[in-house]
Amino acid sequence: MTTYPQIIRTIAELRRVIASFRKANPDNQTVGLVPTMGFLHEGHKSLLHKSVTDNGLTVLSIFVNPIQFGPGEDLDKYPRDEQRDLVVAAEAGVDIVFLPQVEEMYPNKRVTTVTVNEVTDRLCGTSRPGHFDGVSTVVMKLFNIVQPNRAYFGLKDAQQVAVITSMVRDLNVPVEIVPCPIIREADGLALSSRNVYLGQEERKQALILSKSLSNAVKWIQDSELTAPQLIARLKEEISRVPLADIDYVDVLNYPDLSPIDNQMLLGSVQPESDLLIAVAVRFGKTRLIDNKLINQVEVGANTCFAK
Ligand code: PAF
Repeated sequence: MTTYPQIIRTIAELRRVIASFRKANPDNQTVGLVPTMGFLHEGHKSLLHKSVTDNGLTVLSIFVNPIQFGPGEDLDKYPRDEQRDLVVAAEAGVDIVFLPQVEEMYPNKRVTTVTVNEVTDRLCGTSRPGHFDGVSTVVMKLFNIVQPNRAYFGLKDAQQVAVITSMVRDLNVPVEIVPCPIIREADGLALSSRNVYLGQEERKQALILSKSLSNAVKWIQDSELTAPQLIARLKEEISRVPLADIDYVDVLNYPDLSPIDNQMLLGSVQPESDLLIAVAVRFGKTRLIDNKLINQVEVGANTCFAK
């Protein structure tokens, strides 16, 4: 039998319910938080399942956070479907769905922003100025409201995971960040709430993202390539698809997102760090991101895996 989660719309009530859960469950009181903007898909479901497995209580937050959208971005048309999200939450075994209105999260003129530097200097940080300030501010608020033991984030937005991990480390926030693998459609397209924007032909051509990233892994294994050479090959391959309008293609150390310069990627200088190959491409009005996170030591040993 599916049990429906408790739906909570105010911070005060959420705090009350979590406090009484902790009081009633002193031995098994871990709380998992899955922050989302709703319109849940299999990627979100995998985060929810992991949290439900790991914790005594799982809180799913659904909040389309206005301050992480720039002017002209898709805030107003961001897909929403509360009823369907609640069914997904129930099926996943979520205990609480936190569904605040904008006025609940931002009741006053806001004079405080959480800014994470350096890891936000590239990729989406450059293409979407202010985006990560909005993300780190709302995530910090959610951490303070829920005070979870663990919080779950998908690696499709690997830079977001790096930003939140840096924030938690630098500000001593007592939350374990749990990064979870990218979930893909059978044909390789990374799941995203924004995939619904794609027209039929755009959807078909968007497969170039996962295809070119898989090719990139093979190219690194098969030939000596520097990061700039790999970026050039990826750009060439993606540009062959007529509807693809490249925003960025980059290859960086992960998680510090430092540049790799001109050294060969195979057996690269920082074996302790991973290698992030990240792309953002527009198809019509829809901007998609995808990436492969590769362990450099394993690439060297020819047993490359993409996380
Ligand atoms: O990844 C998202 O959906 C959002 O950036 C997040 C983490 C829920 C913050 O609004």
